[in-house]
Amino acid sequence: MDIDWTSLEAAARDAARHSYSPYSHFAVGAALLAEDGSVITGCNVENASYGLTNCAERTAVFKAVSEGHRRFAALVVAGGTDTPATPCGACRQVLSEFCPPDMPVHIVTLPDTPAATISTTMAGLLPFAFSL
Ligand code: THU
Repeated sequence: MDIDWTSLEAAARDAARHSYSPYSHFAVGAALLAEDGSVITGCNVENASYGLTNCAERTAVFKAVSEGHRRFAALVVAGGTDTPATPCGACRQVLSEFCPPDMPVHIVTLPDTPAATISTTMAGLLPFAFSL
């Protein structure tokens, strides 16, 4: 399928605007492209009990699956200032449950910071992913 990276990156950056991050002040957005063309976004949602924080990527996956999307074609994560914020290990494992190893992933910085993009795949993020 054709991937409109410009609009998917814009969707991820836009989602970061909704970030609830009063503790870290570190906003992250994510945009998942479903195989039917839908775009599902997420942001990080922090909590006063820090460990309960939900990252942007997992917010996007949980929103998508709960809305009936289980097959994905691309992901953009937007966060960080000088260098793009790469997904944490927990998010990589959750993403790998639904995203194929060859699925392309772009990780980009936020607006008003130096532009930088990491292009990789799910397998690049999490080689030898655990699955049953
Ligand atoms: N965070 C994400 O949302 N995604 C990542 O890939 C890395 C970290 C969030 C969690 C927390 O709200 C803030 O960034 C600082 O760790």
